[in-house]
This record gives sequence, C-alpha cells and structure tokens, in this order.
Amino acid sequence: MCGIVGYMGNREAYPILVKGLHRLEYRGYDSAGVALVNSNGDLSIYKTKGRVSDLEEFCQSKDTTGMIGIAHTRWATHGEPNNVNAHPHYSESENLALIHNGIIENYAVLKARLMQNGYHFKSNTDTEALIQLIEYIKKQNKVDLCTAVQLALGQVVGAYAIAVMEKGQPDLLIAARKSSPLVLGIGDDEFFIASDASPIIEYTNKVIYLEDEEIVIVKRNLQPKIVTIGNVEKTREIIELEISLNELEKGGYDHFMLKEIFEQPRTLRDCMRGRIDVSCSQVVLSGIIDHKERFRNVKRIIILACGTSWHAGLIGEYLFEEFCRIPVEVEYSSEFRYRNPVINPDDIVIAISQSGETADTLAAIEQARQAGAFVYGICNVVGSSIARNTHSGSYTHVGPEIGVASTKAFTAQLLVLAMMALSVAHEKNTLTEERYLRLLNELNVIPDKIEWILNTTNDSINNLSKIFTYAHNFIYLGRGYNYPVALEGALKLKEISYIHAEGYPAAEMKHGPIALIDSEMPIVIIATDNGMYEKVISNIQEIKARNGRVIAVVSEHDTVVKAIADYVIEVPATEDCFDPLLTTIPLQLLSYHIAVNKKRDVDMPRNLAKSVTVE
Ligand code: M6R
Repeated sequence: MCGIVGYMGNREAYPILVKGLHRLEYRGYDSAGVALVNSNGDLSIYKTKGRVSDLEEFCQSKDTTGMIGIAHTRWATHGEPNNVNAHPHYSESENLALIHNGIIENYAVLKARLMQNGYHFKSNTDTEALIQLIEYIKKQNKVDLCTAVQLALGQVVGAYAIAVMEKGQPDLLIAARKSSPLVLGIGDDEFFIASDASPIIEYTNKVIYLEDEEIVIVKRNLQPKIVTIGNVEKTREIIELEISLNELEKGGYDHFMLKEIFEQPRTLRDCMRGRIDVSCSQVVLSGIIDHKERFRNVKRIIILACGTSWHAGLIGEYLFEEFCRIPVEVEYSSEFRYRNPVINPDDIVIAISQSGETADTLAAIEQARQAGAFVYGICNVVGSSIARNTHSGSYTHVGPEIGVASTKAFTAQLLVLAMMALSVAHEKNTLTEERYLRLLNELNVIPDKIEWILNTTNDSINNLSKIFTYAHNFIYLGRGYNYPVALEGALKLKEISYIHAEGYPAAEMKHGPIALIDSEMPIVIIATDNGMYEKVISNIQEIKARNGRVIAVVSEHDTVVKAIADYVIEVPATEDCFDPLLTTIPLQLLSYHIAVNKKRDVDMPRNLAKSVTVE
C-alpha cells in the first residue's frame, strides 16, 4: 500500500516523480504529494487529497524546480485521506521531509515522548512521528541525517519503506526499508528509488532490491552506499530487469483490467513456455525437479494466500488431492499466522501471491520457515519479498498486473498449480500415463479456448451486464472445481462495482442462502457439463422454483440448462479439473462491464490497493 518514488540526477525531478506516481497509483490513491529541494537548497512540499492528477493541478502554480525529490501516493492507514495526512511530512523545523509506506506500530508512544519534548504534530498519521523522531535524534546527538535515520529506525516497531530529504542538501537522498518493498534504480549519473520498478524502467533496467533494515545513501556523483541500521556496510547485486515499458501501458484498451483479461491467452502461453515440452509429454518445473524427493514423500501440503490468490489455493487443493493423493489444507495467511497452527518440518507450504509483498503471507511464511517447513512460492513479481523469502518456487510470468482486481495473475496461478500437481503426480505415479498425457495435452490448448471465449462472449456479456447493472445483490454458485470460481466471481464483482455479492458451493444454498432468492435476485451459476452437471441442474431448478434470475455459464452446445436458465454464457468443454481456467473468464468480463456501466473506477476501485503491505 502507498507508492513511493524518489529521484536524484541531472534532470528536473518533478516530471519524473509525477510520472512515477502515475505508475504507482495502483498501490494507493487517496492522496498524493511531492517534496523537492531546489538548487538554492530550499525544501518545498506540495500535497493534496485525491489522485495524482489532483496533485498535478495543485502544483500548476507552484515552483516545482529541483533535481532531487521524493513523492508519494497514499492508501490511508492512520488518519483519514485529507491534505494534512497526505505525505510527504515535514519535521518540526520543516528542515526534513519524509515519505513512508508501511505502519509505525509504536507511533503513539514515540509521538507522546516527542510531544513532551516540545514537538507539535499536525497530522493523524503514524509517519509524522518518524520524521519528528529523526529530527529530534539529529539535534540531540548532533549527528548527520544518515546516522539520525539509523538511530530512529532502531527505535521503530513496524514496517516501512521511507525516503528522506533535508533542506540545504540538494545532493543527498536517504531511503530505507523493513517489510515494505524498496528498489533502487541506477541510471547514468542519476538514481531512482521506488516501491517497485515500474517508475524506474523507463530510465534504467539496472536495479538493486534492498533487504530488510537496509539504508541506501544516495549522494550526487557518487556510487550509492548501502548500510544496515546497525551501520554494517553491504554490497548488493545489481539486477537487470526485463520488463518493457509497453507492458506497463494500456495498449489501446479503456482500462488495464480489460487489457489484462484479454491478455490471458498470451500470458498463459508465456507461463507454460519451456515448462511443458513441445511434445506435451512432460512438465519441467525446475522448482519441483530440484526438490523432487521432498515432493514425492510429503505427507501434507499447506497453501497460504489472501484474496484472489487464496481462491487459486482452493483450486490447488482439489488438484493436488485428485492428482497426487496428498492431503492439502488451504489457509488465509492472516488467520494462519495468529492461530498457533501445527506445522511439521516435513510439511510443504505453498505461498501464493501476485505481488509477492502481501504482509500477512510474508509473516505466515516466516512462521512456517521457523517451524522447519519447506516453503514454495508462486509469485508474479520477480524479485519480490515472497520470491526471495521462499526455498523454491515458480513465477507466473504474466508481466505486470496493474488493474487492482486480479485477473491474469489468477489464471496463471491456476496454471502453475496445475503444472505442479501434474509434475508431482508423475513423480509419485498417482496418475496413469494415459491420463497424465491427456491432461498435459488439454492444458496446452487452454489458451486457445480462452481466446475463443473472449472473442465469442465479450459483446453478449456486455449486453447482459446492462440488464443487471442496477442489481443490489448477486449470488454466485458453483460445485467442485467451480466452487472457488464462484467465490472469485463474487469477489471480482464486489471489488470493482461495489455491488454486494456472495459466492457459495451450490449445494450449500439450501442451508440458508436460499432464503434470499426472489425475482429480484440474480444468481450466476457455473453449470458446465462436468461430473457435477446433474447436481447443478437440480440446484438451478430449486432457484427457478423460487423465481430467481439465473445466469448460467454452460458448456458449448448445452441444451438442458439453456432451457431452464434465464441467460447462458457458453464456454468450450474441457477436463473438469481445468474448468476454472475457462469459467472464470466470463465472470471477469461480467464484473468488468457492470462496473463500467456504473461508471466505477475499474482499475483503482475505492478503498483498495494492489499490494497489501500492511497486515
Ligand atoms: O498480491 P497478492 O496475490 O498476495 O494479493 C492478495 C490479495 O490482496 C488480492 O488477491 C486481492 O484480493 C485482489 N484485489 C483481488 O482482485
């Protein structure tokens, strides 16, 4: 949550910072601000409630000169989104400015102490306590800014990625991190810092990912120096990134979400490339091959994730249990970490996260590692904290996902889980060779089938969406592999249209939710021709008997459901276990079109952020 960006170099900082904020806006977008030090050493802060575009408007009449600056786009934790709580924050003397992503958990204690020492606070944020503390320590101990930052961070409990600047110091930028991501970009005589590489990639592909409790001191015309809070000097590897600018732009689509939905045939092909051999006779996942003994002998798998990634985990459970006969538990990371779970040293923990930065998942991984479990990560963001804090893993390789609502990352997570389960099943001999090969061949044609769905159904789903735009509630139902798809469909609709929606296993309906059904209630039900088909038809009959309005996702050429449902959306037939890869696509499109009809901000829905780096 919150995006931070900083620049020092030979160009004007402001345009680079604002462009960077636009790229980071998916991380939080309730207020934005910038701090600049001009060539005379004057330090100015401009900030406002609202979007980055509001900041640009606000800055039109301001002096935004300076070749060093820091900027922030906020997702509020402490203090409502307003002009005062927006970052950057000044210190008492207004000689220092700071931006922060994370939470200072002991801010109340620090603030009380500082107030006793005559410090005044303007905002309700936790962040202001940190910049005040830095100044207090700097003055009390008569030390330079870097030492003051080190000493202050030594007193902080919580998570942070910060950047600090000082009045009169146009050649000095200091940044630090703990549990919140921070990347240093290295250009020709210019340096960048940011929450992720997206604001940097336009200028350089050379980056360093800072580790926890590291501080980078950037001085003009010198190589950046990395030290720990305890003042131990560190050398970090420079990584060359492969993201292109093109991947960060909308490419002609109205929204990133629509672009990302339509990218799925390609992203899934990319995700499979080199992992399913051309003859479709084996899966080659190096993360599994390197640890095949462990996977062959494992007694239990625990899957940890949040949100959409948790839904992928539920489908992973079905896949591993069906293909490999390994018991699987799927847990919300946020529950797992606080409930004293039983973790055995021979467990395999699979952590799933698009961003690779989700705070609860990171903490749950740490707990599993402490207990001696082997942790496998499925992440999209290369070099992310989860990717670096796991023993092994697989990237989903779908490129940056900018829309806050996860789409292409979800289907790639499903694909990776399917490839993993197939690979382990092959090791364990729990599938016949004939079924193994059939499944591999089917997986290989899934991108073509998604292409078909996108080309055939988008217009009709757009028309259908107009009928339901003003519904107040939705129910999503599915069974077997399609039950988590129902959960995901409901989450997608809630997130971007703000319509209340619930997902249930279809058979659970009669245990309570059926009371909600009347002629006003739209029910999206996944009724493809699979092992649960007859059972789902009975569920549809139960709904129709109560006048519910049924939108059914059915297999191509279905006639039975078509005769009883109010509306149908067809998808091609596939193996039951791969149904979610197809049935999720129309549900993505349905929520997208409803949200557009409602004029919602599809890519940046209210209250949400792409990367949830606070617990
Ligand atoms: O980056 P992660 O996959 O760890 O994020 C987990 C959730 O925050 C995320 O899936 C969230 O639910 C999305 N907004 C869903 O669209």
